[in-house]
Amino acid sequence: MTTEPVEWPRTARAATRNRGINWEKWGWVYMRVSGVALVVLIFGHLFVNLVAGEGVNAIDFAFVAGKWADPFYIVWDTLLLWLALIHGANGMRTLVNDYVYRPKVRKWTLRALFASTAVLLLLGTLVIYTFDPCIGDPQSSGLQELCAGR
Ligand code: HEM
Repeated sequence: MTTEPVEWPRTARAATRNRGINWEKWGWVYMRVSGVALVVLIFGHLFVNLVAGEGVNAIDFAFVAGKWADPFYIVWDTLLLWLALIHGANGMRTLVNDYVYRPKVRKWTLRALFASTAVLLLLGTLVIYTFDPCIGDPQSSGLQELCAGR
């Protein structure tokens, strides 16, 4: 069995230099930068929802309505949704490229991944920005006062 020598990682690649955008490199950078942001966003989210105030017992429809009445949490949740979904999808893309060997299966798996990510981003964003606390029965959600006259 012959083995190919592995090139030193910093070897100049003058002959094959690609002058376009290096998407693979920026994908790599994105995973690290979004990872740092996600630590703050995820643990902040868990703390506010599960620990602060009455903790997990306070979570109900009115709790969510209360959070989304504040633009701070709209921005927070939007960032969490977009950064985590794109991070997860890009990570899955790496796994698919590494483990799905048959080109056609890989191509369709990547397409399905891209399509499901786009649908989830669209739906999630719509939920955040079209949320109406007075939809349905304000009596059962405990928001009678807030929704009175609407
Ligand atoms: C605390 C927050 C998180 C941090 C710090 C973090 C960090 C990272 C980093 C640095 C990588 C690159 C690993 C590599 O290239 O070897 C990675 C990969 C990955 N992440 Fe995250 N991540 C976080 C949250 C998430 C979430 C919420 C998801 C799912 C939505 C996710 C899904 C993935 C996937 C699927 C991969 C690819 C795994 C692989 O290459 O083996 N991560 N993460």
